[in-house]
Amino acid sequence: MEYKDNPIFPARFMWGASSASWQVEGAVNEDGRTPSVIDLNTKTKEGYADNSVTADHYHHYREDVELMKKAGFTSYRFSIAWSRIYPDDSGVPNQLGIAFYNNLINSLVKSGIEPIVTLYHYDMPVWVDEKYGGWYDRGIIDAFDQYVRTCFKEYGDRVKYWLSINEQNMQICYGKWLGVCKNEDTWEEDQWKVNNIMNVCHAKAVIACHELVPGGQIGPVPGYVPIYPETCKPADQIAAQNAEEMTEKVWTDFYAHQEYNGFIKAYWREHNINPDIRPEDLDAFAKAKIDFFALNCYRSNTAREAKPDEKAEDYLLNKSGKKGELSFPVVPGMYALTKNSYVETTDWDWEIDPIAMRYMLRYVWDHYQLPMMITENGLGAHEDVSEDGKVHDPERIKFLRDQIFQVGRAIQDGCEVIGYNPWSFTDLLSTGNGMSKRYGLVFINTTDKDVRDLRRIPKDSYYWYSNLIKSNGQDWGVQADGKI
Ligand code: BG6
Repeated sequence: MEYKDNPIFPARFMWGASSASWQVEGAVNEDGRTPSVIDLNTKTKEGYADNSVTADHYHHYREDVELMKKAGFTSYRFSIAWSRIYPDDSGVPNQLGIAFYNNLINSLVKSGIEPIVTLYHYDMPVWVDEKYGGWYDRGIIDAFDQYVRTCFKEYGDRVKYWLSINEQNMQICYGKWLGVCKNEDTWEEDQWKVNNIMNVCHAKAVIACHELVPGGQIGPVPGYVPIYPETCKPADQIAAQNAEEMTEKVWTDFYAHQEYNGFIKAYWREHNINPDIRPEDLDAFAKAKIDFFALNCYRSNTAREAKPDEKAEDYLLNKSGKKGELSFPVVPGMYALTKNSYVETTDWDWEIDPIAMRYMLRYVWDHYQLPMMITENGLGAHEDVSEDGKVHDPERIKFLRDQIFQVGRAIQDGCEVIGYNPWSFTDLLSTGNGMSKRYGLVFINTTDKDVRDLRRIPKDSYYWYSNLIKSNGQDWGVQADGKI
């Protein structure tokens, strides 16, 4: 539907930004933190900085919160590093690690900023990985439960919004790339066992949050990439649905309905897969009623029919940051992703598609009728300080304006959206592309090769976003295209 007026955002809408521990904190060996698997993973990415310094938020958090406050933030989404809280398997939490997040949370609360905390964002402690073989062994269930219960007890008096596992769907779908997969030969079946163990961890975190945090709310964080059919050929529509099932809906259905959907059960039957679901898992799922969906959405995809005899192809991600390097996956008999000629792309070939944001919110709302918050959305770009000492990022302003406007349109369409926290507050270490792919509203003066002085320089987008949020979504700024 077209509307005559600009959107109105609800009172108490949570306007902020996002980050994740290993992508911003640095200080990897300080105050008792022990290594996490992602520390090792970042070291394998040639040409990019590892996560030992990144934005050095660990030492700059006061200054960072001050900048959030000046911008008028009412929320901030960040994650806790498990290996700061439990650096080893002694069962004794690390008081210095606990203190760091207490200090951060206190600074936020004092500044009127609602903390939204992710319990797990890819950074499994190495000791957990070594002891349990990552997510492969059910022993991790108790270790995770111990960790999340400590977080709820320590911070639950001030933190009311909790997120369980970041992008579990992506960790399974791209398990080889994100380091979850330990054996490529058996991953076809293993991924569903691993996924079930993650689901049990998610469910137990939901149960523990409701038990231990007065007024606490908790939700999952699927990575969401809406998928369009390439054409109106009926087989392309089914291919798009297949892709949506296998990359998203299997997870969102599970979180909302607390059981596996018919599509994935049929897939397991068809492929002789035993995901090793135990009766006690079903009990935990039945009790794990989520309160909202946290959604990460950057882009859309397009799918076409893939015949059963087509050659399987993996995603080839863009590493150079020069357009045209990415190639799409083919899953024979299910779907193939293709280029969408209707949308522009970033330098890393990610589709720039604000309408996908509105589509996703409507889709999730229609299916599940649960409140939603955006916990990631943003533009990765090459950027540096200009001669005038400032950082000019007009593309990010355009990207955010168009995306937020579509969040507003979804609200006008009747969706319940409670917050918007784009990726990212400061520049940080990109999962795939190090410091060279910048997402921040605030520039961090460092590069992949050279840790400069780590100065914080608010970009033009920071000031633009600040005006928008201080007006609760009314001041859209000067319009290049005159549209909004
Ligand atoms: C999300 C992750 O999938 O995408 C973030 O939760 C990540 O950790 C973000 O940084 C952007 O991806 P990338 O590879 O550009 O950093």
